[in-house]
Formats: sequence, structure tokens, C-alpha cells
Amino acid sequence: MQVFVMAPTRLLAILLLSILLMNQIRLTEPLTVGVSQVPHHSAHQDLISKLQSSLSSTPPSFCRLIIKNTKPANRKDYFSEPKLLQVEGRYVAIKTGPNLQLTFKETTRDTTKNIPVDDGSSLASALLPLFSSSDFKACTLQTLEGDYAFKKASTKLRVNRPTFKSPPSAEHNSEKNSIIPPTSPFLHSLGLTDASGAPKPNKKSKLKQCQKFVEIVGKLIKDKGFATSPSDPLEVIDAGCGRGYLTFSLHDHLSSSDIHVRSTGIEARPSLCSDVNAISSSLSSQGDSHFDTLSFEPGYISTYVHSKPRADVLIALHACDTASDDSILTGIHLQAQVIVLSPCCHKEIRRQVERHDYRGEGALRDVMSHGIHRERFSEMVTDGLRGLVLEWKGYDVKVFEFVGGEHTGKNCMITAVKREEELQEEERDRIRTRILDLAEGNGVSEFKLADSLGLELRGRRQVKDSRRMPK
Ligand SMILES: C[S@@+](CC[C@H](N)C(=O)[O-])C[C@H]1O[C@@H](n2cnc3c(N)ncnc32)[C@H](O)[C@@H]1O
Repeated sequence: MQVFVMAPTRLLAILLLSILLMNQIRLTEPLTVGVSQVPHHSAHQDLISKLQSSLSSTPPSFCRLIIKNTKPANRKDYFSEPKLLQVEGRYVAIKTGPNLQLTFKETTRDTTKNIPVDDGSSLASALLPLFSSSDFKACTLQTLEGDYAFKKASTKLRVNRPTFKSPPSAEHNSEKNSIIPPTSPFLHSLGLTDASGAPKPNKKSKLKQCQKFVEIVGKLIKDKGFATSPSDPLEVIDAGCGRGYLTFSLHDHLSSSDIHVRSTGIEARPSLCSDVNAISSSLSSQGDSHFDTLSFEPGYISTYVHSKPRADVLIALHACDTASDDSILTGIHLQAQVIVLSPCCHKEIRRQVERHDYRGEGALRDVMSHGIHRERFSEMVTDGLRGLVLEWKGYDVKVFEFVGGEHTGKNCMITAVKREEELQEEERDRIRTRILDLAEGNGVSEFKLADSLGLELRGRRQVKDSRRMPK
């Protein structure tokens, strides 16, 4: 048997370390240790009543709720049934009133559930099974009064100094919660979300595009300060609207912002129009009366221009090829004050850029010898020309990326807001020359948008007058 005899210095070091550790433990102990030495389940009940009172106080002192699962997921968990990792709760103000929004974070998906803050029994029945689950690890409720926590094996609800000095702002919450509340019934009727308001996996990107699009257009509309009334609503046209995801989203957002709006979706496929008209009517009959002024008309964008005296706002999300140009043209012709589009494919200009001989163009020769560069460059030339045409017609124009590439490759946005003052003649001429130079420098002699507005590109072949816009 070996006997270890400790040197006095070593003994002293261990003693000192122990004292330090004990102090450390004391330092990190709760400031006020609360509540009861009672059976385990009382900690659950105590937490739920703290949660309820923090949600229903005026203003709510609730900040955040975090419920943790036992073990972090391992690789295997990602290939089996979804495993619950964590539940996060936050306060959200949605149309139906204040709710506790629970986000269930699973290995392969997130789902959300909204519980009205005054519905105590639903709160308890959502949370108690989580606390009793064998996977439960710990729960923390953060309020302005204090942070309340308990662990699986603990019988006590502990109280620590509050992490938050003020609740996450309502603005921050609604921002995070997005401009279109995910629980909006129309999103579910359109098939973008499930019954609990969670985006369908294959619709997440489309929803993100609609949210960003609405955020951008909504701000431009508000900045423009349109005066609207029930008898003189804001006229919005969504050109090439498809299943109306964006049309519904913008209409709902503007109506909720107290703007009187009439929205019309134009779509070449009549069956889509009847589907979404039925959804709009059904929502109206269920009490969402603002959808009374939302409708969908079958037809081509280019012919629609004849059927309306004016539009205030024209939007187009991924209207294919020259349908984006038809949308711009329609907006200009109907004197829309705001035109916003995210173009789709760009065939008309691409064909010409593909044929153009860049060999004499110095540095560009080696760039354009690659197909991917020619494709991207022709998109830039097309959208550059579209932007210039809008400037020439008296709009302030911006071109930028509106969502990340993970949501769609077609993420370029053109916004055009009509200037208050008319362009001076010389300025118009300068822009005209820039259009002609850009087109000529890239071998573009045919551009339907310019042609329809009576702007003749250099080297253009004669085309029939029927393609021109009506005067
Ligand atoms: C790629 S989808 C986009 C639909 C919708 N804007 C969206 O983002 O969900 C393009 C839609 O435009 C329609 N479309 C294409 N050219 C059109 C035209 N000239 N007139 C009317 N609709 C058109 C198509 O039928 C299709 O539904």
C-alpha cells in the first residue's frame, strides 16, 4: 500500500484553492433565494403563475422564456424522428391580441404556437407536459422583476437578478415577428403556412420574399403620403401575380396600416385567378372585410393597361421575361407613383448580349468568354436599361438585392418613385443618350420597353407600330 504524504506547500495551495472555489460559488449564488421547499411539481406551478402575472401586468414585465431539453442532439438525431431541443417563448402582439409565442426548436424544424396571454389553462396545458417530460432539463423565465429558474431535479424555483432592464421592444418583436404576422389566416388559406402559423417548408423562401417586398413597398407608400379614403382608395396592381401571395400580403399590410386600398392581381392563367378570388371571398365572408377590395383578373399585363384609368402602385414579383417590361410599361402608362419589381428571366437582352462581339472591348473580352458571366452580365444590362428608362420617365430609381441568395437567385429589386418635379428637357436628353450608349455598347438594338415608349435604339430594325403603347 502506498501512502502519499503531502508537502505543506501543496496542502496550503489546495486549501487556498478550496477557499477561492467556495467564495466563487457564493458569488454566483442567487441574490435572493426564493420560494418553497415543496414537492417538485410546485416549482412548475410557481413558474406558470409567475409567467402569467408577468404577461398580464401593465405593461407586461415578461421578457423571455427558455425551456431546455436534456442532451444536445447528435448526428443520428438528425436522421430520426424530430427531437425537441429547446422551446423559446416571447411576447407577441398579433391581430387577435397579445400572445405568448412558443417556438419549438426541433432537430430538423421549428414550429410555433401562439397562446393568448389571458388563456391560463392553455398556458398550463402547453407547459406542464414539457416540464414532466423525461427529456426536460431546465427552465428559465426572464422578467423585469427577476429571472426565475428551476432544473429537472430541483424542488425550488430560484430567483436571480433580472437579466433584462427593459423588455424587448414591441418594435423589435414585431420586426422579428415579421411585417406579415405568420398567423394571418390568409397565409394559411393560400397554403403558405400550416394551421399554427408555421411556414410550410417549401414555402419559406416565398414567404420571406413577400415579407421583404411588402416591407420595402410599404415604406415607399408611407413616405409618399398618399391620401386615401373608402371612395378614393390607393389603387395597387400586382402584375403576373400567380397565386397572389404578394397581392394578399401587401393588401393585408396596407389595410392593417389604415390605408384604404383596392388591389388587383393580373394573371395570365384564369384558373389561378378563380382559385384566389374564391379564397378572397371566403375570407371576406368570415369577417376579414378588407379583402372585399382585393380581386384577381385573368388576362395579359400588356392588355390590362387599357382597362384602368390610373394606378398608384404597380408591383411585379418574378413576372417572366418581358412580362417585367410589360409591368413597367403598364405602371408608366397608368401614371403609377410607385413601381417596384423583382425581375425574373431576361431573355430578350440576353440573346443580343450573347451575340455581341466583346473582342474589341479590352478587359471585358476575357470576362465575357465565360457563359456564367455573359448570363449575369446580360441581367445587369437588362436591369440597368430598365432603371434608366424609368429615370427617363421621371422616376427616382434604385436597384439592389432585396433578399439573400438563399431565398431566391432572382433577388434583384428595382424601385421607382415618381419625382415631385418634372424632369428638365436637357436632363431627359442626357438620360436618353445614356440609354442609347448602354444599349449600343452591348449590342442591344431591340428592347421592347424602350421601343414601346417611342425611344428608338441605334441600329434597331423596323417593327410594327402595333407593339407601341397606346398614346
Ligand atoms: C414566376 S410566376 C410569379 C408569380 C407571383 N408573382 C409570385 O411571385 O408568387 C410568374 C407569373 O406571371 C404570369 N405571367 C407571365 N407572363 C404574364 C403576362 N404577360 N401577363 C399576365 N401574367 C403573366 C405567369 O402565368 C405566372 O403565374
